[in-house]
Amino acid sequence: MNNYDHQTLAAQLACPYGEDGTAIAEKMNETNAFITERSIEMLAPTAGERIVEIGPGNALLSRPLIAALESNGEYIALEPSVEMAQQAWDNLSGLNAAPVTIFTDDSLSAPVMTHSVDGVMAVNVLYFIDDLDALFRKIITWLKPGGRAVFGVRSDQCLQSIPYTRYGFSIRSLAEIQASLLASGFRLVESSYYDEGIQLFDELEIRLDALIIKAIM
Ligand SMILES: C[S@@+](CC[C@H](N)C(=O)[O-])C[C@H]1O[C@@H](n2cnc3c(N)ncnc32)[C@H](O)[C@@H]1O
Repeated sequence: MNNYDHQTLAAQLACPYGEDGTAIAEKMNETNAFITERSIEMLAPTAGERIVEIGPGNALLSRPLIAALESNGEYIALEPSVEMAQQAWDNLSGLNAAPVTIFTDDSLSAPVMTHSVDGVMAVNVLYFIDDLDALFRKIITWLKPGGRAVFGVRSDQCLQSIPYTRYGFSIRSLAEIQASLLASGFRLVESSYYDEGIQLFDELEIRLDALIIKAIM
């Protein structure tokens, strides 16, 4: 894979586009497999549920989630990158699992009906959200009573050690994310932490971790 300059890499991670976006999404599928698996585990999707995923990229890693919903569930993806949305559609068609809807709207303006979903998941997305409280308040409106939201993120220490995150990433501690969830109306928040050790991403050696945060409405 190319060695992109840090500003380009940061922009591509925030919203993958063009041929480089496709290549970076493939790389993300390797680097982000573990954090996505742990996030799906924490979400614990079951047959018949309606789940929204914010920012699935090309959604290859989301396939176990959609399979768990079975044909009577529903998976709704909010993915503003048109290239990623198209590739997600290709990767998810023919799965013989839950029906899939993909919106390219920003999450704050997506047409998700009030109190209509059982769970929401977003992996490696919160760094690209300026107003976290506004997103969490919006998610609350989508959830059915007792619904849950799961956010997979890299810790603030991990993000601070990665050179490209200085270009536009919003880096927040677990305490800040928890406080925002509670202030936005979620009742309970729990989290799990995993050290993933040294990983290679675009020729950069990075010590990665995975912080999985679950909030209940
Ligand atoms: C770093 S990628 C993560 C992709 C995948 N979840 C993973 O962990 O490999 C971030 C994704 O979030 C999407 N994204 C960025 N801002 C978003 C927003 N406001 N609403 C929904 N998706 C967003 C981007 O287009 C991109 O596909």
